[in-house]
Amino acid sequence: MRVYGLIGCPVEHSVSPIMQNAAFTGLGIDATYCSFHVIEDNLGDAVNGIKALGIAGFNVTIPHKESIIPFLDSLQETAVGIGAVNTVENVDGRLVGYNTDGRAATISLKNATGLDGRKVLVLGAGGASRALCHALLDEGVDSIYLANRTPKRAESLCGELRKAGGSCTPLGLSKRELAESVKDVSVVVNCTSVGLYPRVDETPFPGELFRSDLVVMDIVYNPLETRFLRDARDAGAQTIPGIEMLVWQGALAFEIWTNKKAPVGLMREQALRALGGGGGK
Ligand code: ATR
Repeated sequence: MRVYGLIGCPVEHSVSPIMQNAAFTGLGIDATYCSFHVIEDNLGDAVNGIKALGIAGFNVTIPHKESIIPFLDSLQETAVGIGAVNTVENVDGRLVGYNTDGRAATISLKNATGLDGRKVLVLGAGGASRALCHALLDEGVDSIYLANRTPKRAESLCGELRKAGGSCTPLGLSKRELAESVKDVSVVVNCTSVGLYPRVDETPFPGELFRSDLVVMDIVYNPLETRFLRDARDAGAQTIPGIEMLVWQGALAFEIWTNKKAPVGLMREQALRALGGGGGK
């Protein structure tokens, strides 16, 4: 039996084991997936242990997505661009790092709308935003408005995206700036943590600025429908819940490890069930 896992801190509430084990069982693959609570000080030992034990692959979550890099043998191009790793494959004892977060987000968006030539408003300038923005450039978007509470962080990420060949405008999260920029876009994505349980009444975006012609996605998946998405839906916009990105980042990792098409429907059903939205906990 091959063993896969998740390392992070905390990992106790992750739905990845449920999704991945369902996928292995669904496809009759003799493998199992477990989560490992690894504190920062133990990261090097954990990676050595993974190699010594022959663990076939693993996901990496907060707070190790960047600090894992020096412990890996090589990085796939996307992970180099983003500067963070969420998936590792053990290829004959050599650990290869990937990042499936950005492409998971663009696949989720592309199930609702084309991205080529589009203008996109992205809220947030942290790790999730960086992964999404790089993937948006890969999809050929026309330009990105990057709105962040701390303007310096938006400026710095915009500088990085311009170097990668993109067109990017940094801004703050004031209503005036958001109103001005949203006029020009067809897609809005929340990459901040605002609205995450338990602060479910908060939103980073004034609801009255949504329009029915927008496609709106949130990366927050707990709650399944955030205030941000509810406001967008109330305005008639097309909404994409954060669980889509969660499911697709897992599906893409599964495909890297197994070279088989991931059973995305099954993984979504299990993730929804685990998060309390698809037939109870
Ligand atoms: P992640 O890797 O999940 O993106 P992160 O790097 O900590 O996490 O980034 C969190 C994002 O949410 C940042 O854009 C952060 O804004 P700052 O750069 O100003 O910190 C944003 N964020 C978190 N709490 C926020 C709040 N209460 N209001 C507005 N933005 C917030």
